[in-house]
Amino acid sequence: MHSLVRTATAVLLVAALPSLALAQASSPPLTDAQVKARVEALLRQMTLEEKVGQLNQIAGGLFPGAKPEGVIRQGGAGSVLWLNDTKKFNELQKVAVEESRLGIPVLFGLDVIHGYRTIFPVPLAMAASWDPSVHERAAAVAAREARAAGIHWTFAPMVDIARDARWGRIVEGAGEDPYLGAVMAAAQVRGFQGPHLGAADRVLACAKHFGAYGAAEGGRDYDPVYVPEGQLRNVYFPPFHAAVVAGVGSFMSAYMDLNDVPAGGNRWLLSDVLKKEWGFPGFVVSDAMGVGNLLTMGFAKDRGDAARRALAAGLDMEMASGVFPENLARLAKEGALPMARIDDAVGRVLAVKVRLGLFERPYADETRVFSVLADPAHRAEARLAARRSMVLLRNERRTLPLAKTVASLAVIGPLADSKADTEGSWMVFGHEPAAVTVLEGLRARLPGAKVVHAPGPEIRRQVPSMFDQFTPGPKKPPQTPEQGEAAFQQAVETARGADVVIAVMGELANMSGEAASRASLDLPGRQEELLKALVGLGKPVVLVLLNGRPLSINWAAENVPAILEAWQPGTEGGHAVADVLLGDASPGGKLPVTFPRSAGHAPLYYARNLTHSPEGSRMYNVRYWDLPPTPLFPFGYGLSYTTFSFSNLKVGSPQVRVGAAATVTVDVTNTGTVAGDEVAQLYVHQRAGSDSRPGRELKGFRRLSLGPGETQAVTFTLGPEELRYWSTSQGKWVQDAAAFDVWVGSDSTATLHANLEVLP
Ligand code: NOJ
Repeated sequence: MHSLVRTATAVLLVAALPSLALAQASSPPLTDAQVKARVEALLRQMTLEEKVGQLNQIAGGLFPGAKPEGVIRQGGAGSVLWLNDTKKFNELQKVAVEESRLGIPVLFGLDVIHGYRTIFPVPLAMAASWDPSVHERAAAVAAREARAAGIHWTFAPMVDIARDARWGRIVEGAGEDPYLGAVMAAAQVRGFQGPHLGAADRVLACAKHFGAYGAAEGGRDYDPVYVPEGQLRNVYFPPFHAAVVAGVGSFMSAYMDLNDVPAGGNRWLLSDVLKKEWGFPGFVVSDAMGVGNLLTMGFAKDRGDAARRALAAGLDMEMASGVFPENLARLAKEGALPMARIDDAVGRVLAVKVRLGLFERPYADETRVFSVLADPAHRAEARLAARRSMVLLRNERRTLPLAKTVASLAVIGPLADSKADTEGSWMVFGHEPAAVTVLEGLRARLPGAKVVHAPGPEIRRQVPSMFDQFTPGPKKPPQTPEQGEAAFQQAVETARGADVVIAVMGELANMSGEAASRASLDLPGRQEELLKALVGLGKPVVLVLLNGRPLSINWAAENVPAILEAWQPGTEGGHAVADVLLGDASPGGKLPVTFPRSAGHAPLYYARNLTHSPEGSRMYNVRYWDLPPTPLFPFGYGLSYTTFSFSNLKVGSPQVRVGAAATVTVDVTNTGTVAGDEVAQLYVHQRAGSDSRPGRELKGFRRLSLGPGETQAVTFTLGPEELRYWSTSQGKWVQDAAAFDVWVGSDSTATLHANLEVLP
């Protein structure tokens, strides 16, 4: 089976390469000098108003009545967003290129977050694959489809660290850990942008939301963030920095106040750290209406003040609030804004357009859109990604995999046959959900079996979602309590006749994402009650979770024999779930976030500093008197259909000098009888030093596929990159001469231990 899995992967990889006939032309990488010369030549010809135009991003189609043509003709818009229409892109581009004075092409941007037509698992799920190559290829497919449709720029990756499961946008990122987050951020940038800006079939990426948006107080979206500099640099910034190192061409500033200064007007953040310290050469766009919001946040006194302070802070392009075009030219003429800053901002935007090859190839080829979007290789990649992102949370008495001979299945729950909720949050505007649901996937996989379905009572948000307006079709009125009760009874009756019950439960797509925070982390609605009734039938029950955040499934974790975390698995989700349930693929994903026992745990994450009453001590256990302080499932956790052991942990040179690197090796063995994947995870702890350091920090990982009985040696490197940190007591980056604990294992509670000593 092991070699079968490998062969299947290889076939998918080959199939994913686009045929030459379909490939979009590449622009050769340009030298900095070539780009500079072209940008300066343009700047010399531009009026002040035309310069300001390049810094203005306008809404193209989302809002009825939007008329971008006139603005573009005047050279008044450098970019358009919220439009998803290839023909319209070309029409507008024609206006820009042929009818505006300087013919500068427009940059079309859209939220292509986890796929364009082929939807991949949500980003949190992709991080659960602990496989950056899968994430990179997913981003490449998304880029290929989006670029074919005429989109140049995606507002992704979202690389915000999120340690509070209440925050709805946790679904859009890689979870709680800076190391995993940085690896996944770089992988997505490579996938979206390819080897260089302007590479064929790729798009410009945008690292967002800079920075620390995920630390919103109380997990309430948009709320202020108070994070000290040390934590910013050690926890929240690493994925952004990794995106810069990977060559990301744009950044988006976050909405909220960061330590009392809004991110979009924060000079320290945008200029001192991002542009000066990190040398970021691209441009920074605000979040939607973000410059206008500097007023509502009580920071700017009027729109002119907002424009001046945002641009002066280092923001280059404004998204959708129209404050820049209204004010920048006047402010520059009055001398309130240095022309050099305007030229710098415009130069950054133009440089990206030049590198993307927009001047040479401004139009989308309408004849190839269909064939690219219909490329079956894309769906094959999506199925592979979904399989690899699933996390087996529990599997008592080997409930899974199901016998391939299973005669009858009841697939129960409100998410079992919902295409939109299988695709997950952030679907591209105007896209009809086309996912294979879990019900459909199981029916396709088991044509000879009796597969019955009942949804049970509906689940629903208490307040509407801001995205509801974009979902086509009439809205269903809420179920009455009587209808809900009838649906409950029908679900139990449907399950009664089956051999095995598959409960597909969790959250609707619109229960996580932007403006979708929750005060509770329990299964919404009557799902847990239904689950109890299903388990009460005395049959094997498998809970398949579809959700965009950790859920406090305490009862299920003790009473449902098998639990598969399938997240929101995308277009091929149902097939992938069937692959895993029937054992065609062994689950090998690991949690990229801690699962708390209750919302009252939040924020809960593994990399906490030690305290005067260490973990495991009696005092530790009274952190709360009503709940164990330990997670329901720890960071990095995930089971397999086989078992693994870790042995022979060795630190190559147990004493190294500051600045030198040590190698860490370990053997991983598949001790079971079937093939499977394990993720070897390396954690360190600095015992003493300039500052207190977290009890554990991830510093390396490797996902391995091992056949039964197979052993593989894994080598990690621990050098200054891994061991340094921003010291609050020193006010700078330090690498301490200190003693370190080193653990390697299958999750953040790994016990296999070694010592490392760093000498001065
Ligand atoms: C607001 C969101 O915060 C951001 O992530 C998104 O890219 C923009 N709107 C554009 O849709």
